[in-house]
Amino acid sequence: MTDGVLADTAPAPTAATTDERWWRDAVIYQVYVRSFADGNGDGIGDLAGVRSRLHYLADLGVDAIWFNPWYLSPLADGGYDVADYRAIDPAFGSLEEAERLIAEARDLGIRTIVDIVPNHVSDQHAWFQAALASPPGSPERARFWFHPGRGDDGDEMPNNWVSNFSGPAWTRTRNADGTPGEWYLHLFSPEQPDLNWSHPEVRAEHEAVLSFWFDRGVAGVRIDSAALLVKDPSLPEIPAESLPGQHPNTDRDELHDIYRSWRAVADSYPGTRILVGEIWLPDAERFAKYLRPDELHTAFNFDFLVRPWDAASLKTSIDATLAAHAPVGAPATWVLSNHDVTRPVTRYGQEDSAFAFATKREGTPTDLDLGRRRARAAALLCAALPGSVYIYQGEELGLEEVQDLPPDRRQDPMYLRSGGTDPGRDGCRVPLPWAGTGSPFGFSPAGSTGEPWLPQPSHWGELTVEAEQQDPDSMLSLYRTMLAIRRGEPGLGDGELRWLPSADQVLAFARGLRFICVVNLSGAPIALPADCSLLLASTELAGGLLPPDTTAWLLSERPTTHDRTLRGPTEGGE
Ligand code: NOJ
Ligand code: CA
Repeated sequence: MTDGVLADTAPAPTAATTDERWWRDAVIYQVYVRSFADGNGDGIGDLAGVRSRLHYLADLGVDAIWFNPWYLSPLADGGYDVADYRAIDPAFGSLEEAERLIAEARDLGIRTIVDIVPNHVSDQHAWFQAALASPPGSPERARFWFHPGRGDDGDEMPNNWVSNFSGPAWTRTRNADGTPGEWYLHLFSPEQPDLNWSHPEVRAEHEAVLSFWFDRGVAGVRIDSAALLVKDPSLPEIPAESLPGQHPNTDRDELHDIYRSWRAVADSYPGTRILVGEIWLPDAERFAKYLRPDELHTAFNFDFLVRPWDAASLKTSIDATLAAHAPVGAPATWVLSNHDVTRPVTRYGQEDSAFAFATKREGTPTDLDLGRRRARAAALLCAALPGSVYIYQGEELGLEEVQDLPPDRRQDPMYLRSGGTDPGRDGCRVPLPWAGTGSPFGFSPAGSTGEPWLPQPSHWGELTVEAEQQDPDSMLSLYRTMLAIRRGEPGLGDGELRWLPSADQVLAFARGLRFICVVNLSGAPIALPADCSLLLASTELAGGLLPPDTTAWLLSERPTTHDRTLRGPTEGGE
């Protein structure tokens, strides 16, 4: 009985794991298992690899790990096509190993968050296989969106919805006698059929899955595509504009009832088990509705992530974020990257540093040194803002997007389904470099025969954990110091932010009694406020001035006030 593993090995709760408000300012590290560390040498990251590197994460200073899906999956979309939620994919390990990993992490004061993908399952999931084997109108098909086609022969799609991975959102099935049959809906790839959330069994099953993982000691779940689950049953075409809550497949009002039930499940467990939504919504008020006290705890702040490296734009986003969260009492989250978006070192090194899936193009001129410098400054900015922070594996090493992956090695359905016009997301999923001067850079054990599932750039020897650990100026050293200071500084984490007067292209704010953060996004050095000591800077100060594209963390000798005046770049110089 696998339950026994946890019961036998789980350590006694520590102060680090009993604090009920932990999630309000947690530092959460995202592990894309396939690319983190390979324990058995087949070139694919796995749970043994993660277990062997837990001390690295403890030393980095993270409070929790969010694991991308680790369940049984054909990996048509990197595991976001789940065939069985109660089993670990054999490429990654076993359920018993996952239980041990959760317990070992907890022993180090690190909580575990798992990924739940409620919008769809794998086409290999038992429910979908049963639906395919059953006739139209059967109860097995009612858990999905099966629909007859339009036109005389039913050979036109039920509607013209487009998949998030390009191409149609419908695929036609074959009947048992080989004739063309009904169509089924998939907002992502055809291997990811959408579930019908008005079906009670769909709701009951997901609540059981939540309990399955909470029973195994996880501290939270990240909810994939959280705003897409509910569809208008009449399946109308997508209008050019729709009233709030009226879009046929996004942000429908019925979702809130689902998440209230999920919250009840989470709240029935001891400690605070959290629900984190992946919610891409431009409307900040609609976004905040998901964070009401009886729904989700937090959601990823994508508005901030997509912004260009521009002071006014970032300030607008920070203000809008804090204003939207305040009425519901939820903390904001700050996210620079994840497994879906171009790595920040590359983004910030491009002239147009805003992020949008539609504008993602390889071959855009990129200044990686500039990008790295800005990514360092952005990291300090995020960690100083009120709320919790996410770090996507490799961000702390300053890895760039790998843009020259050979076409035959790429696996992302975004790339494959677009016929290669969309570069896809493989470039931010390349296996991590841990040590040494050549591939696999310690990702797989010495002497392994399997190559890393995606090739690593040859120059990543400079960016290994081993190399960066020895360099006090490395990105890794910056992240470690930053997280250590954040943990000890009472003004940081959850709480208020007060803007301080500053010049154009400079952001300056105070937290708590004495903490000040200044970000210089201008092209010239600026003077820092007087009577402050420097806690940390993302780039070394030059003659006492804060250089361009640099963030400083300061401690004021006196309690900060609203009338502190910062000198801007035109007045800079001591
Ligand atoms: C969002 C996930 O982050 C992404 O990786 C995935 O492809 C889609 N949801 C579909 O599950
Ligand atoms: Ca492996």
